[in-house]
Amino acid sequence: MQDKKMINALQGKVQKTFPFWLMRQAGRYLPEYRELRATAGSFLDLCFTPTLAAEVTLQPVRRFDMDAAILFSDILVIPHALGRKVEFREGEGPHLDRVLTINDIQNLAYDNRKLEPVYETLTRVKAELLPEKTLIGFAGAPFTVACYMIDGKGGGFPQTREWVTTRKDDLVLLIDKLADATIAYLLKQIEHGADTVQLFDSWAAIPKDADFDDLVIRPAKRIVAAIHAKYPNVPVIGFPRGAAHRYTDYAAATGIAGMGIDQSTRLEDVHTKTTLQGNLDPEALLEGGARLERETMKILNAMKGRPFVFNLGHGVIKETPPDHVGQLAKLIHGFDAS
Ligand code: CP3
Repeated sequence: MQDKKMINALQGKVQKTFPFWLMRQAGRYLPEYRELRATAGSFLDLCFTPTLAAEVTLQPVRRFDMDAAILFSDILVIPHALGRKVEFREGEGPHLDRVLTINDIQNLAYDNRKLEPVYETLTRVKAELLPEKTLIGFAGAPFTVACYMIDGKGGGFPQTREWVTTRKDDLVLLIDKLADATIAYLLKQIEHGADTVQLFDSWAAIPKDADFDDLVIRPAKRIVAAIHAKYPNVPVIGFPRGAAHRYTDYAAATGIAGMGIDQSTRLEDVHTKTTLQGNLDPEALLEGGARLERETMKILNAMKGRPFVFNLGHGVIKETPPDHVGQLAKLIHGFDAS
């Protein structure tokens, strides 16, 4: 039987210490990442070169003894596998050819072979990871991936907002296609060793009310159901960032085991049956010192005696000094959680 601290927490078990990992734990704040990144060519080349992607995945786990490794890849490999042009420009973030018409949506054709290198990365990481450590797979949730496909880049997503109000049927069509691809992709990740998977819905706060039900909850529910039909014991973590007033609905309707909580909500105010994960402010990690200690201890004390996965409320900021992550790891691993 596996005895993984993070999986135990997702199964509702209270343990001696809290498991921890950080969103964007691999990346530019680490000098060893920057060094390897400089040799890899484009960012997508790095994601699709299994030896390098596996090494980058393991870097933070080795340095900080995290309880989980998260696959090094990106949520935008799905539009790439659907035949859209995806580029990461230096200092500018992602650029995609915009989806404009129904035809563009109907022409999307998922080619799973394009993602084979990602599965090989998982196989390689799994072979290196200690048995008590968890391997996390992930995908962007359909709504968030649709934001980048419709607007072609990050920032505001004005076109997507327009689709929510005036072209909802087209948006639902796109989201259904994305959900199908996401199911195929996540099932393969599990087949290649992912112990749990997280759905990143970074822009879930955009659709409100019934739109939130249709564009965020419904696809997440379908993805979780498809995973559980094949792998009933693999826990799924949902992260509908910024949608605090809908956390309870989302958790109850989708069947997730873990719920990512961003830094805008107090953990004590979230009432779901799921295990919670989060919610340290990435700015506190950037600042370090007394503020980091104060905010970390507040979370640890609030969650004592409950199943919990320590994390940030969003990704590590790239200017974060690595020593601050070391300080955080010490606080978490030294805390009696039971
Ligand atoms: O968490 C991890 O360590 C695993 C790897 C991971 C990356 N992106 C690597 C990455 C994960 C889980 C993601 C998720 C992701 N990607 C999200 C959801 C989470 C969130 O942050 O809201 C989103 C919206 C994206 C899309 C994306 N990818 C953007 C907007 C950018 C540019 C951001 C920036 O800081 O420049 C990326 C690029 C990206 N993805 C980088 C990394 C390490 C930086 C690229 C580089 O090193 O050149």
